[in-house]
Amino acid sequence: MTYKVGILGATGAVGQEIIHLLHERKFPFSELRLLASPRSAGKVQSYAGQSWVIEATSEASFKDLDICIFSAGGAQSKTYAPIAQAAGCVVIDNSSAFRMDSNVPLVIPEINPQAAVQHQGIIANPNCSTAITLMGLYPLHRAFGLKSMIACTYQAVSGSGAEALKELEDQLMAWSRGESLEPVVYPHPIAFNVIPHVDSFNEDGFTREEMKLLNESRKILDLSELSVNCTCVRVPVRRAHSIALTASFEKPVDLALARQAIADFPNVELVDDPENCQYPMPIHYSEVVSCAVGRLRKTDILPNGLSLWVTGDQLWKGAALNAIQIAELLIESKALKFN
Ligand code: A2P
Repeated sequence: MTYKVGILGATGAVGQEIIHLLHERKFPFSELRLLASPRSAGKVQSYAGQSWVIEATSEASFKDLDICIFSAGGAQSKTYAPIAQAAGCVVIDNSSAFRMDSNVPLVIPEINPQAAVQHQGIIANPNCSTAITLMGLYPLHRAFGLKSMIACTYQAVSGSGAEALKELEDQLMAWSRGESLEPVVYPHPIAFNVIPHVDSFNEDGFTREEMKLLNESRKILDLSELSVNCTCVRVPVRRAHSIALTASFEKPVDLALARQAIADFPNVELVDDPENCQYPMPIHYSEVVSCAVGRLRKTDILPNGLSLWVTGDQLWKGAALNAIQIAELLIESKALKFN
């Protein structure tokens, strides 16, 4: 059986990874429809000896598609997801538009696959930092029962899209010529800097990105009482987010059991040998399916406390890969049809 697959936002940073991963994972597609803005219409996308003409997205774009992965931002998702849904096309949405909608499952296939099969045509992909954080924390939650966490993110520029990656590269090149460049994507230079500001600020001083970790973790883990304090920081890393976590659990944490739980979990690697300078880093976990966990240490700052460090490719597990895994899960579970 093969499927007609669309990508909305095919020319973007995540869209390009989706094209790559659909091929790499031998996703069973019979047709691939690449959708973007009118700016890209008519341009040719080539991959592995094949070429596709990019189409401008319209209401007619979803006719006959079985699945469309959306990665063109919240506004496009809000406009086009209901249209695709009405056309019988399952939408897997990377934006935050539907994540907290009670009719829309929010899914990490390794964690809550059962939620995906109950979809009504739209399934949301979690925020990139949430997906990577929970990949590291979920094995520990299963072992010890997660109660709360304090998180600080170290987020790569490609998480802000292709333009942001170019901004970092252009600033570094300008610096090497003794010049400086005005920032456009970020409010400050990102080269040789860190910016404690990801997404817009709420009145209480937290950013929307910081609140996503709280709200999305509660939904994915089905833990309505979970408390989360998060500080999101943009760092001059090309690719792969890292998160420093201190978590509190119901049961006392046994370090050996914690390590075993992480090592045994699918698509998570334990990299925890600090004596030999072995811990997860973005340069080792870019374009890698697995997320990695290290720097495990018990702490008494919180009851039954454990500190850890998680790294994962936010363009893959935080976006493209997770979306394709959801599509694979729907196919395996024969849950593509709805209504
Ligand atoms: P385009 O390249 O034609 O602007 P990124 O996250 O890397 O910035 O990518 C955003 C993606 O969303 C791109 O593929 C972009 O297409 C697409 N996009 C932006 N605006 C629209 C729109 N109005 N309709 C469809 N796709 C859009």
